[in-house]
Amino acid sequence: MRHTICYVSTVSPDVSDTMLSEIMAHVKQNNSKLDITGILMHSEGNFFQVLEGEKEVILPLFHKIKEDRRHYNVIKILDKEINNSTFTEYHSSFAVISSQSGHKELQHFLKRLKTNNPEHFKSISYLTQKFMKLS
Ligand SMILES: Cc1cc2nc3c(=O)[nH]c(=O)nc-3n(C[C@H](O)[C@H](O)[C@H](O)COP(=O)(O)O)c2cc1C
Repeated sequence: MRHTICYVSTVSPDVSDTMLSEIMAHVKQNNSKLDITGILMHSEGNFFQVLEGEKEVILPLFHKIKEDRRHYNVIKILDKEINNSTFTEYHSSFAVISSQSGHKELQHFLKRLKTNNPEHFKSISYLTQKFMKLS
């Protein structure tokens, strides 16, 4: 069963730019290996993440992420099952986006989301655009 979790959080004060880059690189690599799709965005001291994958992978991973001391104030926005059939692209990778780069990658993620998960497209698209201050 596929599952999605979406949350916002605050970056811990002792996290440097180098540590941020390390988190982003680790997440992209690990999530692609685990067949997790979604997005991790960083902007002005906050994270926004959407995780989509097998329920037995997503739930323990989110538990681990929540305990990670490199961020705090983890506020869950979405936590629900998603229809298998909404996933048509199996080889889509996990996008990581920081304020300096990645608008093109965000547009690509949103386009995929609109096709694969139309139910969540409107709200996630709204949140990501606001988060990156694109509108
Ligand atoms: C904001 C944030 C998001 C994270 N997202 C993921 C993620 O999507 N996938 C992942 O494997 N680790 C993610 N991590 C890292 C995990 O919290 C954890 O450090 C990592 O999975 C390594 O765990 P391990 O040493 O038990 O393998 C994230 C960390 C932070 C701070």
